[in-house]
Amino acid sequence: MNPDLKELFYRHLAQTSDAPIGLEIERAQGCWLYTRDGRRYLDLIAGIGVVALGHGNPDVSSAIEQQARRYLHVMVYGEYILEAQVRFAARLAGILPAPLSRVYFTNSGAEAVEGALKAARKFTGRAAFVAFEGAYHGDTMGALALAGNREFRAPFEPLPGPVVHLPYDDVGVLDSVDSSVAAVILEPVQAEAGVRIPGKDFIRAVRERCDRVGALLIFDEVLTGLGHTGRMFALEHFGVVPDIIVMAKTLGGGLPLGGFAARDEILSVLARKPALGHITTFGGHPLSCAAGLAALEVIAREGLPERAAATGEYLRRGIASLDAPEVAAVRGIGLLYGIEFHDPDFAHRFVAAALKRGVVINWTLNAQRVVRLAPPLVITRQEVDFGLEMMRLALHDAHS
Ligand SMILES: Cc1ncc(COP(=O)(O)O)c(C=O)c1O
Repeated sequence: MNPDLKELFYRHLAQTSDAPIGLEIERAQGCWLYTRDGRRYLDLIAGIGVVALGHGNPDVSSAIEQQARRYLHVMVYGEYILEAQVRFAARLAGILPAPLSRVYFTNSGAEAVEGALKAARKFTGRAAFVAFEGAYHGDTMGALALAGNREFRAPFEPLPGPVVHLPYDDVGVLDSVDSSVAAVILEPVQAEAGVRIPGKDFIRAVRERCDRVGALLIFDEVLTGLGHTGRMFALEHFGVVPDIIVMAKTLGGGLPLGGFAARDEILSVLARKPALGHITTFGGHPLSCAAGLAALEVIAREGLPERAAATGEYLRRGIASLDAPEVAAVRGIGLLYGIEFHDPDFAHRFVAAALKRGVVINWTLNAQRVVRLAPPLVITRQEVDFGLEMMRLALHDAHS
């Protein structure tokens, strides 16, 4: 007899909300999740920006198997020469814009953000950070201090600082970035703020302001990196190179992995005075690096960023054809879309109705009126059509 997993899930796992999605996953393949009760669901959120290649990619699985047979953990990060880790760092250096040629691997996005903040402080000798309203950078104390939504920060204060939050996509406020600032951190597209896509002028003005006052510019590409916006990195849309780029999510090909990359001069401050001033046991785990390297090869070989851009255009036309009066706006770039509703309650009912129809979508953390569509980059047009048809029905269901 099978134990009642659902009952154990609610009894023994710490919950992140009172309303988890609660699907009991049996297996996952491509863009589909299969549940224990025999249903299947189209995954239009890709495990929140992770599963770019679809579930169960054979290249990634075989890289994991090979690495697992060779060795797992052998030493903390940075001491031994581990082939998968070294080859992955070199491959990343080859696709990142110069001079971002050195990678520090971590376990997660938030941990990579923390490392980037520490590097910026030590490199500049300054204390302050500038972040933006609507931002999401993770949930450790330092990353949370950067969060652009006060509701999430307030219960956990005092948080590390000083951090100044400025309005996003507003060139007019950048004068307040002054010579006390160690770094300005931003997402080139703010996914959790409801998929906000800033103007080129804003991102370029931030770069210029940082250069003028000697602050570092950190791009958080944890969610946008590795193809989701229709380019390998979102920074390519703006023609701007940051001093530090933070990556995670897709980076590990489905295994936990983060990293921050910069020029040697910046990252070398973490190795000296004191030596071992920034270390991690599992960061850059060989299994994660093997999976990540295999995933990156697939992304590059199959041109997944370009494919995301083309399928994204198809999705855009499909969303427009839903012609729904409940929708206030649609924003999208590559395969990262936000559908903004007039009424947040309707958005929630729509998400629930879509799930009943077999399609997984969700709202965004800092903009509850916005529903996110961010499928695996390999999604086919037929699958997009299925998703749109079910969403059409769910829009109707959400009224009742
Ligand atoms: C833009 C961004 N930065 C950082 C993070 C934190 O990453 P992790 O959950 O791996 O700590 C996330 C996670 O959703 C994110 O979307």
